[in-house]
This record gives sequence, C-alpha cells and structure tokens, in this order.
Amino acid sequence: MKNILITTAILFAAGPVAAQSTDVEVTARPQERAISALADEQSFGPEGYSSTDGETLYQTLCAGCHMADGSGAVGAGEYPALKENPNLEFAAYPVMLIVNGQAAMPGFGSFLNDEQVVAVTSYIQTHLGNDYTPDATVEDVAITRPVDPADPNTAEHE
Ligand code: HEC
Repeated sequence: MKNILITTAILFAAGPVAAQSTDVEVTARPQERAISALADEQSFGPEGYSSTDGETLYQTLCAGCHMADGSGAVGAGEYPALKENPNLEFAAYPVMLIVNGQAAMPGFGSFLNDEQVVAVTSYIQTHLGNDYTPDATVEDVAITRPVDPADPNTAEHE
C-alpha cells in the first residue's frame, strides 16, 4: 500500500514536467533547436562549442535548418539549400552570414571562434555537392566580426 502511494506521488510529480517538455519540443523552431544544441552541456562547455571539425559543427549547428545533406527546407520558414550552391564559391559571403546572421538565420559569431568559422565554411565549400577551393582564413573571420558585438552594423575593417 505504501508503495502504491509513493508510485502515484511520483507519477503526479512527473506528469506535468513530461507534458511541458513535449510542448517545448513540438513548438521549438529550428533557431531554438540550434540554440538548445549550443546550450547542451555535453557539447558546449564554458569555452563555447569546442569542436573544430567542420562536419561536426555543420551537423550540430546548421543541419537543423539546412538539412544534413544541405538540401534546405520549406516549412514554417524557408531555409535555402547549401547543396550545389554557387554562392559558396568564395568564403567571404558564407563567413559573413555565419558570423553575423541574416534575416531568419541566427549569427554564430558569439559561439564560434575564428578557427571554427573557417572549419565550417571550408566544410560547406567542399561537401554537400560543392567542390570549391576552401578560401576562408582566420583573418577574414576576424575582420567580419563586429567591433561592438551588441551592434552588428559596426564591422571592423583593419
Ligand atoms: C535557424 C535556422 C538556421 C540555422 C541554424 C542556420 N541557418 Fe543558414 N540560413 C538560414 C536562413 C533562413 C537563410 C536565408 C537568410 C536570408 O533570407 O537572407 C540562411 C542562409 C544561409 C546561407 C546563404 C545561402 C545563399 O545561397 O544565399 C549560408 C551560406 C548559410 N545559411 C550557412 C549556414 C551555416 C554554415 C550554418 C551553421 C553554422 C547555418 N547556416 C545555420 C537559416 C539557418
């Protein structure tokens, strides 16, 4: 009898919590999923996301919107395909987007260091059906970062 009471109490306590986390999962937009991936303690320590492997970074941070194979998606929003994408021929454009974001794409500049931005840029330039010469450098990333992280309109150019 005592056991049954305890089990019931546990079920009661667990019920609303379980329902709540299901709600979050159903309503989470890709942006929120990306942020929660970033917040995942197992992959995101106090130093930020620690992988310097372009594929790992892409699959963790980008695939939620652009899909694992880069084919993009149309649904609640429109996520352009990175697959066979001529806009990736030169790194300056993807680096700018990855660092600062644009429209519905969040910027990753405050989560990733310069090397990580180079790694993920090089990955998308040479995978997902793209065969470009990876040309991103840590210097390119550094000058793409805003001087004041709170104001993305002030980019540093020297
Ligand atoms: C929350 C969803 C989301 C995530 C996560 C995301 N993107 Fe995007 N991305 C977008 C959207 C939306 C656009 C279109 C932006 C616009 O309308 O200007 C875009 C555009 C781009 C473009 C430009 C494509 C073109 O042809 O103009 C590149 C390159 C890109 N993303 C790379 C990345 C990389 C690399 C990552 C991971 C570091 C990433 N994105 C993560 C949503 C996302």
